[in-house]
Amino acid sequence: MTFHEMWAELLPIGRSSASGGYRRFAWTAADAECRAWFEAQARARGLACEVDRNGNQWAWLGDPAEGDAVVTGSHLDSVPDGGAFDGPLGVVSSFAALDELRARGAEFAKPFAIVNFGDEEGARFGLACVGSRLAAGQLTREQAHRLTDGDGVTLARAMEAAGYDPDAIGPDPERLGRIGAFVELHVEQGRALDLSGDSVGVASAIWPHGRWRFDFRGEANHAGTTRLVDRRDPMLSYAETVLAARREAELAGAVATFGKIAVEPNGVNAIPSLVRGWLDSRAADQESLDTVVGGIEKAAREYADKHGIALDVVRESFTPVVEFDHALRDELARILGRDEDRGLTVPVLGTGAGHDAGILSGSIPTAMLFVRNPTGVSHSPAEYAAEDDCLAGVTALADVLEGLVCR
Ligand code: GLV
Ligand code: MN
Ligand code: MN
Repeated sequence: MTFHEMWAELLPIGRSSASGGYRRFAWTAADAECRAWFEAQARARGLACEVDRNGNQWAWLGDPAEGDAVVTGSHLDSVPDGGAFDGPLGVVSSFAALDELRARGAEFAKPFAIVNFGDEEGARFGLACVGSRLAAGQLTREQAHRLTDGDGVTLARAMEAAGYDPDAIGPDPERLGRIGAFVELHVEQGRALDLSGDSVGVASAIWPHGRWRFDFRGEANHAGTTRLVDRRDPMLSYAETVLAARREAELAGAVATFGKIAVEPNGVNAIPSLVRGWLDSRAADQESLDTVVGGIEKAAREYADKHGIALDVVRESFTPVVEFDHALRDELARILGRDEDRGLTVPVLGTGAGHDAGILSGSIPTAMLFVRNPTGVSHSPAEYAAEDDCLAGVTALADVLEGLVCR
């Protein structure tokens, strides 16, 4: 099956006809369909399929027990109304790159696998990269069991309903210890490649980033009869905090976003009793991130005091700065023709987006390839990459894998 055919087959799964975006959330029917698609692709290529205890799906060529395996892949889940490329481009390109290597007559000197990491986006349970975090020991079973979706369903119950054992989750050092290199291809989530005029780039680093929950608690009351001076309206402090986030991010050259909100009782004619907003903030270095989030929290406390509101701030997740393995990064750049003497360069760029490759980089050498995104738009149905660039990405991935895995 060609890249184009695989892409077309995957395209309708979990797509909302209303928004045109994807709703492929962990352990839902759409997720199961994506997993079935992955397994069918793997089996059609004679790869051995397994799902590890943390819900990550692997397709193996060769015996993993031999060690020093080369692994590529990405994820198939999405953010709410996400685009088609974030995640699936890496998985489809991995199968296509394997086909290209076989067409070249490449001989595999090491075990090789394609992986589909579970719950990368954290759209349902609020924590990103759950599958890789569990495997790498960055999330304990107890912490994972406490994760709950918007309907009150725990991650454990959702896994169980999908036919997996939630008590088996946890660190998987033996599995990770068998991997010598992990390379994730991903659509770029910015416009650096568009501006440099390149189809493909190599990742240098991921900004430190995290998610914080701000609970503003006031007093529910009648929207028509309660005098303005008598109100304790948490929406006011929340709204002021959103503006403070923008200001603090601008001052530090960082980003800060309140993209999700829950309101109680959520009635048009009721002053809210609770406004819960989730902050996502990222910066080039830890000090800037601390300054931004510290500044936002300080402002939020002032606004809460002003309106008689109680405020709780909880850090729900955090990922420190990731510097991808320098030797592997340089090897990728060399394979892809970075040769300053001959004027050939492949761009090496950082990103503010989180990835499983970033989580795994603490345990094994990891690297990433980015494919040009002409608008930079991501986490939106408008996310796009041209087919020519996608195919250039497949060839680049095949070149890299050939360099890493073949005799
Ligand atoms: C994942 O895509 C993230 O960066 O939030
Ligand atoms: Mn994403
Ligand atoms: Mn992604």
